Amino acid sequence: HATEAHQTDLMTITRFVLNEQTKRPESRGDFTILLNHIVLGCKFVCSAVNKAGLAKLIGLAGETNVQASDSNGEEQKKLDVLSNEVFIKALVSSGRTCILVSEEDEEATFVEPSLRGKYSVVFDPLDGSSNIDCGVSIGTIFGIYMLKDSHEPTIEDVLQPGKNMVAAGYCMYGSSCTLVLSTGTGVNGFTLDPSLGEFILTHPNIKIPKKGKIYSVNEGNAKNWDGPTAKYVEKCKFPKDGSPAKSLRYIGSMVADVHRTLLYGGTFLYPADKKSPNGKLRVLYEVFPMSFLMEQAGGQAFTGKLRALDLVPEKIHERSPIFLGSYDDIEEIKALYAAEE
Ligand code: AHG
Ligand code: MN
Ligand code: MN
Ligand code: MN
Repeated sequence: HATEAHQTDLMTITRFVLNEQTKRPESRGDFTILLNHIVLGCKFVCSAVNKAGLAKLIGLAGETNVQASDSNGEEQKKLDVLSNEVFIKALVSSGRTCILVSEEDEEATFVEPSLRGKYSVVFDPLDGSSNIDCGVSIGTIFGIYMLKDSHEPTIEDVLQPGKNMVAAGYCMYGSSCTLVLSTGTGVNGFTLDPSLGEFILTHPNIKIPKKGKIYSVNEGNAKNWDGPTAKYVEKCKFPKDGSPAKSLRYIGSMVADVHRTLLYGGTFLYPADKKSPNGKLRVLYEVFPMSFLMEQAGGQAFTGKLRALDLVPEKIHERSPIFLGSYDDIEEIKALYAAEE
């Protein structure tokens, strides 16, 4: 009966993407091969994160070797470094990539010609690393650009607006390991079945609620916010129209905060503030992938000035303020910024 059929008709992420790709006449399986290598990296990080406490993988990278810091001078933790190496090696060995940009590497990686493919991957191998030591959910975020024609790759090929991405996704290492992906035709969620080592489709066609009851922001930065951000948060806490106040949920791992926002609705903000006029989150491998997913799920993503996916980055580690989430809620934020102009 139905449940047995369900048990035997396993919709793995590979099968799902293969189905989607075969609808594209030009596809020759390259994207599926690339994705499989990203999935391999996620499975590695999932297992490393799950036994981090045991394998003493936690703690600062600096403990054992020269003080390591990432592309933003932030202290690197062992898992940051380890995850980065696994993803770089998996992506290069896939033979489907040409440029790799990682939060953990100051410079972009240009894949040697013999292993070069047509995809560029921008990624944050371990997001939320400040939460590793206390066991709170962390994640991996990635975005994929495709080289239009076969020219010698240059850094311009990854300094593209997010709307040019062909795919984006994240993997969240929490109570379960969940991979959320879009290849431009909606958003789907897959959960790792550790007994199979396969990601199985568990959240088909995710759509974010049009309006939400939750806002997510680091209130500790409130004294440095600009007018519109302050007004929006004030409205969440003290609504003037008699509607109930919103709940504040802030985990401090973008992947976890965005995953909750995608499923439950509401907004996630990392605004500009006086100390950091471009906010904290990086355009290529945090803002763009999450904005791509939000739009694909029927939500919006706004920088305070423009649609996030229209931003044209000039540097690979550039930052931008970001307001993303439920369609109607982001409309409110856009109106507050428009009123300031
Ligand atoms: P990463 O660990 O990759 O450096 O990213 C951390 C980011 C993001 O995950 C999260 O939303 C944000 O830092 C939290 O920043 P605050 O602690 O300043 O709120
Ligand atoms: Mn970092
Ligand atoms: Mn991050
Ligand atoms: Mn990171």
